[in-house]
Amino acid sequence: MNMINPHGGVLVNRVKETMKIDGKNLGVELDAMALSDLELIAIGAYSPLVGFMGKNDYESVVERMRLQSGIVWSIPITLPVSKKIAAQIAPGDTINLESEGSVYGVMEVTDIFIPDKKREARMVYTTEELAHPGVKKLADRGEVYLGGPVTMVKRPDSPYANEKRDPALTRELFGERGWKTIVGFQTRNPVHRAHEYIQKCALEQVDALFLHPLVGETKADDVPGEIRMKSYKALLEKYYPGDRVLLSVFPAAMRYAGPREAIFHALIRKNYGCTHFIVGRDHAGVGNYYGTYDAQKIFSHFAKEEIGIQTLFFENSFYCEVCGNMASVKTCPHGKKHHVALSGTKVRAMLQKGDAPPPEFSRPEVAAILIEGMKQEQAIREKVGES
Ligand code: ADX
Repeated sequence: MNMINPHGGVLVNRVKETMKIDGKNLGVELDAMALSDLELIAIGAYSPLVGFMGKNDYESVVERMRLQSGIVWSIPITLPVSKKIAAQIAPGDTINLESEGSVYGVMEVTDIFIPDKKREARMVYTTEELAHPGVKKLADRGEVYLGGPVTMVKRPDSPYANEKRDPALTRELFGERGWKTIVGFQTRNPVHRAHEYIQKCALEQVDALFLHPLVGETKADDVPGEIRMKSYKALLEKYYPGDRVLLSVFPAAMRYAGPREAIFHALIRKNYGCTHFIVGRDHAGVGNYYGTYDAQKIFSHFAKEEIGIQTLFFENSFYCEVCGNMASVKTCPHGKKHHVALSGTKVRAMLQKGDAPPPEFSRPEVAAILIEGMKQEQAIREKVGES
């Protein structure tokens, strides 16, 4: 048995596929983020949440990174709708949560409120700039929030059926394998050598690695999840001890909320049964909105027991030509000019041209899959006349 307690003490389960739906309920269309949030609430990944946040929890999370009960929670989980839809709903109503003609869940509406989105942007993302993808998303969504407990009646189809495991299952698998200490790794990118290095440094300390890439909505220039999944599998097969790693998808949308999202990511991995969680440089960052280590520093606002999962912090890592291995400033005395450092933009440009980044940056097996994936994407775009 996996022994780590879920956040708040109990693993939430709000999936009830046998539940009868009342066709007379008002149907509310979910966007991709809301559908993914519904599922993550229902399967207990967001324990202790049992629904979309009501006004009090929302205000408390925005203001002080805690639910009203005092439990640490750093990201608002909200269901935004238009004013027109909101006008048709009253507290006490049950609504059907729909997407593209299917009902995925129901919600007992307890709260209907208009948030101060500018404040939410400043508090959660540290900026109101629409150039920030999380702020843009926030601004584009409906102006009224609905809150209340949910039940999921149908699971969304997933292209990752074999790698999609709910927290109850990952906890069971960790236990079956006899893993007592498990480090969770969040990523929205292909795994490059720096990621591999910090994962393996962690693996020297713990029983197993839970490689848990986020495959929900990301910004357009992030590598699509399906291509990344292929690259993770190729990498694991050749370079990782198979009996000490579990790869599963994390079907969440990316917020790009940097420090606040690091806490959110850590708490969720605790719910999946991890005992440790890696936070490297600029975790969940975008552009220059956050300081390189802000996502590590933010954990010091909370007592260790309140977070309940042990964070493993890593410095910016790179390949050093003089050391002849991966390192960080903690272990390498050589200057920057000896370090192989490539920006995401530069790597994307190389891959688009069909050039593999150097093996000091990315394993050749990973680069080959990314190049092939980009070619296929390009071909699809040309076919539909987008480029
Ligand atoms: S994200 O989901 O956090 O945005 P990303 O793939 O960029 O994904 O990073 C995954 C994890 O690796 C994060 O904890 C991040 O801080 C860490 N990381 C990424 N690159 C490096 C690096 N060069 N050195 C140290 N940590 C890194």
